[in-house]
Amino acid sequence: MPPYLKLGSVPRKRHIEFKHSPGYKGEGIYYEEVVTTGGFGRAYSIVYHLRPPTRVKKVEPAGNRIVEVASEQALRHHHLKSKSIPRSGDPIHGRIPILTNNEVTMLRCRPALPQTDLYRNATADEVIFIHRGRGTLRSMFGILPFQPFDYVVIPKTTTYELDFDPAEPPDLLIIESPGSIVIPERYTNPDGQLRLGAPYYERDFHGPRETLVIDNESETKLLIKDGQRLTRYTLAQHPFDVVGWDGMVYPYTFNADDFEPITGKIHQPPPVQQTFDAPGFVICTFAPRMLDTHPDAIKVPYAHSNVDADEVLYYVRGRFGSRRGVDEASFTLHPRGIPHGPHPGTIVASREMTYTDELAVMVDTFHPLHLTKQALELDDPSYPYSWLE
Ligand SMILES: [Fe+2]
Repeated sequence: MPPYLKLGSVPRKRHIEFKHSPGYKGEGIYYEEVVTTGGFGRAYSIVYHLRPPTRVKKVEPAGNRIVEVASEQALRHHHLKSKSIPRSGDPIHGRIPILTNNEVTMLRCRPALPQTDLYRNATADEVIFIHRGRGTLRSMFGILPFQPFDYVVIPKTTTYELDFDPAEPPDLLIIESPGSIVIPERYTNPDGQLRLGAPYYERDFHGPRETLVIDNESETKLLIKDGQRLTRYTLAQHPFDVVGWDGMVYPYTFNADDFEPITGKIHQPPPVQQTFDAPGFVICTFAPRMLDTHPDAIKVPYAHSNVDADEVLYYVRGRFGSRRGVDEASFTLHPRGIPHGPHPGTIVASREMTYTDELAVMVDTFHPLHLTKQALELDDPSYPYSWLE
């Protein structure tokens, strides 16, 4: 979880009256909401609303968002080219699922329109990786600015609205996780602080910068997704009516260029690039870095059989040293059961290199991933043979 943060006004102690005159219906207080994870046992935040956050006028079914898994007749490596997916929908409805299992779904979104509904994912944390675009995420926690190469981490049940600068059309990778997305435990010391030597520091995590207090007693539509089901709520008021909050559950950003790569004399394995942890998978950042310094070091990864994981790379920026033929917004999926490694020629080509400017997001899953029907349309069937020559 990100560090403890406090924004706006909160009372001296938790769970006591926070006086406000006249207050909703003359009750003379702000209304506390505790947002808690792990069944009251893990991280939480305490939020103070102008009005009780429970006031609902209408609940209606709003359909389903089914993730259709493709039927794959053969186990093989995949190269999925998503750079030119046509723009469509808004930042919520324009999402296209690409790879999925019970613990993680990766989606791409190249929206054509601004977000239409307030949105809440009730059953999954979301990481929105901003490949292109900048703007703000608005939620009851306030205003969170984001920029290119930010991971925007949104805890489940956060109602939000993404507002993009129209000058930079957005291009997004979204990772949905039913389990909580956290900072790897090995990066924190027993006192709860990020260790010296961890690849980032508390200052690299950015929460909302200012509160957003919308005092509006008028019906507000909200779309809630739980699993594949959509429900439309009509709230009695605007939900962004929070005068202050504190805690460790809130949307935040971490920029991939703030990752501090750990490099070595010889090749370091991918866990040194781990950025986030979640049940069933990890997210790693392949950030620009110095290459190995041993005079005979092979500066691209050795061929490997990662027998307990499926490996996904999403290529963001720069020239990727060990791969040929991948482009920005390509995905490669290297499943368990088949070795993969550097493409022919890349070992020799890297001999004189001292630095790589590659930026990629890696998702390694502990259970097999499935392509979606939409992903099949992006697939390069010749990829499994790309190590010949
Ligand atoms: Fe790999």
